[in-house]
Amino acid sequence: MSTNPIQTFNEFKRLARPGSRFGYFPPVSMWSVDKLDSEVLKESYSSLSGNTSLYFHIPFCEQLCSFCGCNIKVTPTTESHSPYVTKLLAEWKGVASEVETDISNIHLGGGTPNFLSSKDLDTLLSESLSFKKLTSNFYGAVEVDPRLLTTEKVKILEAHRFSKAILGVQDFDQKVLQNVNRTQSFDDVCKASEILSQNNFEDISLEFIYGLPFQTVQSFVESVGRATELPINGIILYPLALAPWQKGTQSALGHFPEPDLELNFTMYREARDLLLSRGFIHFGFGHFYKADNPLIASKEDGSLSRNITGFKKSKSDSLLSFGVSAISHLPGLHLQNQRIFEKYQFQSGKELLTERHHMLSPQQLFFQDFTREIICTHKISQNLLNQYEEIFERSTDPVMNILKHNNLIELEQITPKGVDVLKSICLEFLTTS
Ligand SMILES: C[S@@+](CC[C@H](N)C(=O)[O-])C[C@H]1O[C@@H](n2cnc3c(N)ncnc32)[C@H](O)[C@@H]1O
Ligand code: SF4
Repeated sequence: MSTNPIQTFNEFKRLARPGSRFGYFPPVSMWSVDKLDSEVLKESYSSLSGNTSLYFHIPFCEQLCSFCGCNIKVTPTTESHSPYVTKLLAEWKGVASEVETDISNIHLGGGTPNFLSSKDLDTLLSESLSFKKLTSNFYGAVEVDPRLLTTEKVKILEAHRFSKAILGVQDFDQKVLQNVNRTQSFDDVCKASEILSQNNFEDISLEFIYGLPFQTVQSFVESVGRATELPINGIILYPLALAPWQKGTQSALGHFPEPDLELNFTMYREARDLLLSRGFIHFGFGHFYKADNPLIASKEDGSLSRNITGFKKSKSDSLLSFGVSAISHLPGLHLQNQRIFEKYQFQSGKELLTERHHMLSPQQLFFQDFTREIICTHKISQNLLNQYEEIFERSTDPVMNILKHNNLIELEQITPKGVDVLKSICLEFLTTS
């Protein structure tokens, strides 16, 4: 491959387009808030086939990190969690009776799934995984707060075939962490990684954020470097997202100056180069994995897939999600549940629980699969381009010329430079004609 990853901020600025993490298409802002027709929903459930992924949103956190853009609810203790678990199970049970599909994986996200008590966690998994048949290669993934992980909880997860954990770290620098109200030591992360690796978790990934106040290039690279010494095989680098709804919280709880985009790019570049030099492979979107991570083999054998919860080692056709603000992808239909905790907890009936939905046009449906193929294979084959041209009734030459001119693609292969801006490559197909 003749090009290097992106080296200069000017080049990055020219090639990178702003926007969300691109976990689904079109963005939520385009979805309808009109009441969902129950017949449409029924039809979509009945057209589910093959294998489906499950997602449960556990919004609870013990403390608020002031940068956080997730849908969360701070609860000082775990006492109030059981009614929510009961509600989650009731929601999934209602849907399970309407769909004919096997379950290929489950993802617990949040918030902090491992803040649930051991009893609630065990009840949630024992019951929810009994409603439908699980595929032979079924596995579970969980988002973990390293400060709250215990061996007992890991054993419960392992007993329910969980093998992937994504740990929130953000940084190891104490000044950076204190400013965002996150009391966490290197030892917390070290212990959590060790417990997981001793209990057969085959994918252990750590999440970092660059762009937090008080980070320097040196301090951030040092933090990422320390992470590579741990028994983990994935590191994810997120740029700090400043969502308008959290700005009040952020400035009330910590010091949040305007972002310095050049500094942020430099932190990303230096951390990326360190990870590449230590044997990590860049999947795009800031996801770096080591050779022993199962996602590497999936990428090679073509079974890698991606949905809103991240990269998956096996393909699944749809995503059924439960809990406050959870987003589902059914055939041709996106759904988002109520985003207000109390509304979710006290309403019933799937139509009422749904706050927004979007029915995908055939072109949107194709575009979603088209971009997932590019993101998971890092290739744009002639066959894929032919399909695009047929569906959109326009030539792909203008887009491909831009990509080639900028060294983002060589023959059919996305270059390392292109991997730095995968989302922009996808968006180019949407806007260039
Ligand atoms: C559900 S949390 C991870 C698990 C757990 N709650 C914890 O914090 O350890 C999801 C991750 O999203 C990322 N995140 C949250 N808010 C963000 C923001 N405003 N910008 C960028 N990344 C963010 C953080 O890296 C965080 O670890
Ligand atoms: S980063 Fe994690 S622990 Fe912190 S508030 Fe967000 S979800 Fe909760």
